[in-house]
Amino acid sequence: MTAVARTRADLASTRAQWLAARDSVAVVMTMGALHAGHAELIRRARERNDRVIVTDFLNPLQFAPGEDLDKYPRTFAADLELCRAEGVDLLFAPGPSEVYPGGVPVVRVAAGPIGDLLEGESRPGHFDGVLTVVAKLLSLTAPHRAYFGQKDAQQLWLISQMVRDLDFGVEIIEVPTVRDQDGLALSSRNIYLVDADRLQALALHEALGAGAAAAAGGPTAAIEAARAHLSEAGVKVDYVSLVNPQSFELMQGGGPALLVVAAHVGSTRLIDNVRLRVGTGEKGGRHAVDD
Ligand code: PAJ
Repeated sequence: MTAVARTRADLASTRAQWLAARDSVAVVMTMGALHAGHAELIRRARERNDRVIVTDFLNPLQFAPGEDLDKYPRTFAADLELCRAEGVDLLFAPGPSEVYPGGVPVVRVAAGPIGDLLEGESRPGHFDGVLTVVAKLLSLTAPHRAYFGQKDAQQLWLISQMVRDLDFGVEIIEVPTVRDQDGLALSSRNIYLVDADRLQALALHEALGAGAAAAAGGPTAAIEAARAHLSEAGVKVDYVSLVNPQSFELMQGGGPALLVVAAHVGSTRLIDNVRLRVGTGEKGGRHAVDD
């Protein structure tokens, strides 16, 4: 049975009971509009923990003016249904004034230099907003483990770094990207895609495959192959980059890498990424997709 908490007081009293029972607690943080990707995070959490909390909070702080905050899908009844089906113990679904009782917070978490790259370059201040709400939700839910998706690779890297840098004492568990049968990464924003867009959106996944196939030829070859695929599909590229998965800095040479892409399909901005191994460009080099 999934209980719903709308206030931090209700959350705290449930959390206190679990503390007294010495239950292990996991949190899966979301902005609602739940889909099979979120369900996979919940399943992983369910497997290893006595209690699972899902947070459902559309965080205004991580949206810039003019972004899709106002039209972001809100599907609370279906979200609660999914949580029930997946055996979630508590759905914490507060409103903005419950999370930010003093209004927009004056003190925030600064994401640092990696927060200004890629997603951060296109969405200034986005990651400060993400890390601030994640820090608050970690404080409020006090979990042993927190589950995040590799689909949002830069977000995942920054959250892991914040937890290390600020000693949050929570274990961060990474969950591989869940895709539709044709390869499109699941996203709450896929709901915006009309039929023609839905076909075009596939180009992101295909471009990552093209990049992986060319990766033996070195970083430039991988990026160019991905870029060429996107432009052939008529998709407006925001960025295609290779980053070092350890440091999230832009890749210079060969080795394990993350090929990351952001593009506009119609009026919808989508992101995706794949792990791969980049060669040095020498003849006879091999490429491999890691996952
Ligand atoms: P949201 O986009 O709702 O995603 C919630 C979590 O689900 C994130 O960890 C995200 O990486 C994961 N996720 C989304 N699509 C996925 C997929 N196809 N496969 C696997 N995991 C997937 O990310 C956010 O919300 C917010 O920024 C949040 C962290 C909740 C802070 O507001």
